[in-house]
Amino acid sequence: MQHFVNTPTPVTIEVMIVLGIESSCDETAVGIVKDGEELLANAVFSSMDLHKAYGGVVPEIAARSHIESIIPVLTEALKTAFPYMPEDEAWEQIDAIAVTHGAGLGGSLLVGVMTAKTLAVTKGKPLYAINHVEAHVYANFLTKTSLENYKLPDKQPEFPLLSLIVSGGHSQLVIFRNHFDYTLLGQTRDDAIGEAFDKVAKIIGLPYPGGPSVSKAAMKGDPNKYKLPKARLDNKYEYSFSGPKTAVLRLAQEEIGEDFTFPSFKLAERLSETQVCDIAASFQKIAVETVVDKTVLAFEEFEPKSVVIAGGVAANQELRKQLSDRIPIDVEYTDIKLCTDNGAMIATLGCFKVMNEQEVADPYSLQPQPNLSM
Ligand code: KG4
Ligand code: ZN
Repeated sequence: MQHFVNTPTPVTIEVMIVLGIESSCDETAVGIVKDGEELLANAVFSSMDLHKAYGGVVPEIAARSHIESIIPVLTEALKTAFPYMPEDEAWEQIDAIAVTHGAGLGGSLLVGVMTAKTLAVTKGKPLYAINHVEAHVYANFLTKTSLENYKLPDKQPEFPLLSLIVSGGHSQLVIFRNHFDYTLLGQTRDDAIGEAFDKVAKIIGLPYPGGPSVSKAAMKGDPNKYKLPKARLDNKYEYSFSGPKTAVLRLAQEEIGEDFTFPSFKLAERLSETQVCDIAASFQKIAVETVVDKTVLAFEEFEPKSVVIAGGVAANQELRKQLSDRIPIDVEYTDIKLCTDNGAMIATLGCFKVMNEQEVADPYSLQPQPNLSM
């Protein structure tokens, strides 16, 4: 049986515009990118506020929110990229659709994947399936935009390219020899670094998301007040954050004169502001040092021409400071709006898939892959 309305063959055209859809966690996002370098639109709706009361993302709430916001976000992206054009005409400008199919929360991924499949069939566009973690790196390839309030790097990264992807869901160190030719050097064995910040924040009574609140408290604290452990693992590029996180729990219990049976949810009210700030600073120091140590090791082994940082934790000033102190070349950071989850990074990787004649996905059979690895 012939399924396709339009047979999706890879497109090879001179100017190419890709629409990217992202829904793997709590951001519903659509980005539009030209030629893998120019940002035309980056519309994002985050359901983060709905999760605040629970101290972390609730999958069912995130999935419902994607259903409600995916069409308004899509419309906003098309309007931004092609102002004054009717939506049908705007669609004519789009050459391909890219969508995150993993890794992520099953219910959340499903909304983006079903939307992309439907659009690919009804609008007659080729569909590209995107690995979310790989796409984080591609946000750094955006160097041009006429959108206001974006600070982009002057030039695209060069290969070999070392990338540190650090967010609430990921902590990966990857060396790219070229597009689509990369090796995952190491990743976290347990919690992602951002997740560890979020959990530590909860223990010491700081609001969600924990990264910004822990780093704000850390500014007033002494990073050398408490000596927290760094995990030692057989693979020199792997990390673990569960040890330091448990060490924070034990430390907080000790500081208020209680033992390990004292419930963690009652700790925060007994800690003084000084104790909270010192714990935040000591934890931040050890967590950041852990990923920077691995990045420095990889830099020495692979001698990359570029180093890029992707993911929400790239906003952390201590991480930026330690990296610039210890890496002898300039480390690239794109605009923070492109570091956190967004559709533009999906569209950018989509552009490179088109340009490198990578495989097109079947819009009738593409499925979310929650555990997709790199
Ligand atoms: O990339 P992102 O928006 O979403 C995921 O894919 O996870 O990253 C969010 C994560 C959260 O865990 C948040 O606590 C962390 O990034 N984060 C930070 C900072 N800002 C955000 N972590 C440390 N320091 C920050 N300044
Ligand atoms: Zn992400």
